[in-house]
Amino acid sequence: MQFLRLLAFVAVACTSGSAATVYLAGDSTMAKNGGGAGTVWSGWGEFLKYSLNITVVNQAIGGRSARSFSREGRFTTIINTVKSGDFVIIEFGHNDGGSLTPTDNGRTDCPGDGAQTCQTTFDGVSETVLTYPAYLKNAASAMIAKGAKVIISSPTPNNPWEGGSFVYTPNRFTDYSRAAAAAVGASFVDHGQYTANRFQSLGLSTVDSYYPNDHTHTSPAGANTVAAAFVKGLLCGSAPLKTSVKNATASVPGSCI
Ligand SMILES: *[C@@H]1O[C@H](CO)[C@@H](O)[C@H](O)[C@H]1NC(C)=O
Ligand SMILES: *[C@@H]1O[C@H](CO)[C@@H](O)[C@H](O)[C@H]1NC(C)=O
Repeated sequence: MQFLRLLAFVAVACTSGSAATVYLAGDSTMAKNGGGAGTVWSGWGEFLKYSLNITVVNQAIGGRSARSFSREGRFTTIINTVKSGDFVIIEFGHNDGGSLTPTDNGRTDCPGDGAQTCQTTFDGVSETVLTYPAYLKNAASAMIAKGAKVIISSPTPNNPWEGGSFVYTPNRFTDYSRAAAAAVGASFVDHGQYTANRFQSLGLSTVDSYYPNDHTHTSPAGANTVAAAFVKGLLCGSAPLKTSVKNATASVPGSCI
């Protein structure tokens, strides 16, 4: 009997495999030290681990867009690393706008929400540029094919109190990321709206203090609030990652939207 119990235990231990990991793909607003040398600034991805009971690997890197993260092979690295049951959170938008002409900065995506392509030359290399949703869908579907559970989230707001009164209007990347998630069977967290709502209730002086350098990059306290807004969005939604959140929904400030 003891022996059978031991056998059953070993069988369960072997089939459950190693613990899941969450990989983060994004720009400076999510990255470690994305604010540049000499700053104490951190992105929100560095604060997510405090709310989850599985490991977080933050692969976000400053200055990247859906396009440059793709071209540099950074999505491919994550695709090659994920195993079935892992999670990936993808959040871009701050570096995806702009124009490919007269000068291509290597980040700007081809305009549009579908299969449009643009021809450009960046760093002396000719490149076919895809749209923002196309890059996200390509990356997410390859991760999902490996058994990963993907969340695409909308970009964080720039300081919505910047002009002295609260103004938040989601930009096109919010709609694009929602639609890209739906198209490939990924989950969606409206991180921009959850953060904006939280910033509205915190008020001008607190939120201004979260943006010490510019209107995009947050202080550590700001990044922690932005991470909490993501967690609230997770808890209020249906993404499978919500079962790895340590916190009760009511304990995280804000309301479900
Ligand atoms: C969740 O709880 C942990 C303590 O277990 C805390 O460090 C973290 O900030 C909490 N997260 C949120 C979003 O409130
Ligand atoms: C993580 O925490 C949640 C909520 O407390 C719990 O349901 C889940 O089983 C925990 N997962 C692990 C791997 O500890």
